[in-house]
Amino acid sequence: MSERLLIVEDEETLSSSLRRVFLRDGYEAEVVDNAESALEMLDKGIYDIIITDIILPGMSGIEMLKKIKESLPEQIVIIMTAYASLETAVEALRAGAYDYVVKPIIHEEIKQIVKNALKQRALQAENVLLKKQIERQYDFSRIIGESSAMQKIINEVKKIADARSNVLLLGETGTGKELIARAIHFNSSRADKTFIPINCSAIPENLLESELFGHVRGAFTGAITSKKGLFEEANGGTVFLDEIGDLSIGLQSKLLRALEDQEIRPVGGTQSIKVDLRFISATNKDIENAVKGGTFREDLFYRINVITIKLPPLRERKEDIELLVRFFIQKYSKDLGKPVNEIDNEASEILKAYHWPGNIRELQNIIERAILIAEDGIIRAEHLPEGIKTEGSFIHAALDDKLSIENYTKAFIQKHQNEFNEQQLADMLGITRKSLWEKRKRWGIARHE
Ligand SMILES: Nc1ncnc2c1ncn2[C@@H]1O[C@H](COP(=O)(O)OP(=O)(O)OP(=O)(O)O)[C@@H](O)[C@H]1O
Ligand SMILES: [Mg+2]
Repeated sequence: MSERLLIVEDEETLSSSLRRVFLRDGYEAEVVDNAESALEMLDKGIYDIIITDIILPGMSGIEMLKKIKESLPEQIVIIMTAYASLETAVEALRAGAYDYVVKPIIHEEIKQIVKNALKQRALQAENVLLKKQIERQYDFSRIIGESSAMQKIINEVKKIADARSNVLLLGETGTGKELIARAIHFNSSRADKTFIPINCSAIPENLLESELFGHVRGAFTGAITSKKGLFEEANGGTVFLDEIGDLSIGLQSKLLRALEDQEIRPVGGTQSIKVDLRFISATNKDIENAVKGGTFREDLFYRINVITIKLPPLRERKEDIELLVRFFIQKYSKDLGKPVNEIDNEASEILKAYHWPGNIRELQNIIERAILIAEDGIIRAEHLPEGIKTEGSFIHAALDDKLSIENYTKAFIQKHQNEFNEQQLADMLGITRKSLWEKRKRWGIARHE
């Protein structure tokens, strides 16, 4: 389909030569000689581009432009002017013209402007589409969970998404902290600004400072040019400080200043820059303990922790497992182009019995892998990793009373003590650390160091 142009020009020789030029290039081009008729045409049809003279018999080109922009703000209008006066050009651009050309019209020039305008419009359309896709991806409906614990979290996240308050997300690895952080950002009024995830533990301290705050030229060896920091790049948006528990004490005080004053100072610089940022932090460490122990600044803790959201581990909301399994089966069978849409009972029971130390990420990986190796569209026990199965069967055996709870606990500790620390082991068994220690002593199972 060819693009439609409307040429508004009262000088016959110019309008017909323009029309000819654009028809030859494959456009559809229509001509009118006054603004009033042009507006009528616009009421009836859609034009990709309007090219108009400024001085017309009745209404001027600029007045027409203003009228068009009221009802069709996206309409591309290109102005032709006889005077190379900056004033008229500025007025036209201010009124929303895409560009202007000065008479006498050079065909190549106006053709190029039309091309650029169409290209820009196509790019914009693509961006809007991409943004919609991203937003849909972080729509609340993408956060799976019908357990009351998850429903409570989803409701709270909806409520606080648009507030400016900083948020601290707590939870074990793989519980969805980053997913929630993105959902908060993409459902806030900051959604059209940047979401910048920063992994505080992955970047060495001296580098992290200049990454976050930027640096001026000559700030340190190798700083041959000045560089904007991530905080400045994210201005107006959201900064996601992942693994905040790993932030060094030195950087904690610098971050505190940025949070308190909404101001940053580039490394080596003397001037501060104002920034408008919302901070969402996340950690899987016991940060309150770190505050008590003096390794995490208390004042910073209160700044980042205006709203706390604690994500429960998957084993504490087992009722969501089935739903998540279905969700990931659908997702990966589509992504991998493999029609798998069932899971048999045995496999399903194994997944429900397992304790999921890696939480949803682990479940997701296991389903992806199972779909890859499943052959007849059904996930069966044989498609699940060995480790998961033996544990599942432990529990079933215990439930079937073939194994007493005592024996089960003993076997569990022996099997898993090298994978987890004391607290995790105790949590999984639903006992206190003290009781774990007593059991070890009673059964003579020493901890391998
Ligand atoms: N409720 C959920 N519904 C659907 N997918 C989820 C849910 N929670 C987590 N996921 C998915 O599980 C994976 C892990 O989640 P995420 O990266 O947010 O975890 P995390 O808490 O940041 O983990 P870590 O502490 O290891 O960084 C992601 O692919 C995420 O999309
Ligand atoms: Mg994460």
